[in-house]
Amino acid sequence: MTTAPTPSTERALFFEPMTAADLALVAATEQRANPHPWSLGNFSDSLATGYPACLLTTPLLPGDHPPQLTASGRMLLGYWVTMNGVDEAHVLNITVAPEHRRQGWARAMMQAMTAATLADGAHWLWLEVRTSNTPAKALYEQMGFLPVGVRKQYYPADQGQREDAIVMSLNLRAAGATARSAAGAETP
Ligand SMILES: CC(C)(COP(=O)(O)OP(=O)(O)OC[C@H]1O[C@@H](n2cnc3c(N)ncnc32)[C@H](O)[C@@H]1OP(=O)(O)O)[C@@H](O)C(=O)NCCC(=O)NCCS
Repeated sequence: MTTAPTPSTERALFFEPMTAADLALVAATEQRANPHPWSLGNFSDSLATGYPACLLTTPLLPGDHPPQLTASGRMLLGYWVTMNGVDEAHVLNITVAPEHRRQGWARAMMQAMTAATLADGAHWLWLEVRTSNTPAKALYEQMGFLPVGVRKQYYPADQGQREDAIVMSLNLRAAGATARSAAGAETP
């Protein structure tokens, strides 16, 4: 799965399946990116279970100095993992490498994720987010997710504490119809 270069950034973006050969890089990035990171085993278990898992990568440009390249020889911008249900999918992880944030890459990944999930036949996308995670909450609200509940003490937090999770959902068909309407496309 690839996209054409985006005019605003001049970078070619590639959405490619996460493979076993990428796990060391993904896990190392996760350690830098998340205060409560997934382990390498969490990622490898996800691949073994068949969860959709995707990388956002880009070819190297002058000035890029990533510590390590993906198996495809590109620079890793971010990644996501979802879990498919009957009529819905659950976002398990979406992360952008710290040095690549605030450039629209999470938004690009969410758009690709929602399109892929809709194409798989799901109608709803669900996720949990820490109440303290202001960047992620703002991202999800921008994508059209709505809060639907709270899971008390859901996440481990610092110093043995726990933190609540906000449960959010996105109606993919409604979001897709809104996007098509905004783009002036005819709806089927
Ligand atoms: C949350 C995260 C994925 C955002 O990635 P990103 O590439 O920096 O986000 P984008 O540049 O695509 O921003 C999209 C929108 O998200 C929101 N956002 C992103 N970072 C933000 C920040 N630091 N503060 C406030 N809003 C923020 C904004 O609404 C932004 O839209 P805008 O640029 O028009 O203001 C990234 O911070 C991250 O990887 N965090 C650690 C992992 C994590 O918390 N994942 C979510 C778990 S539920």
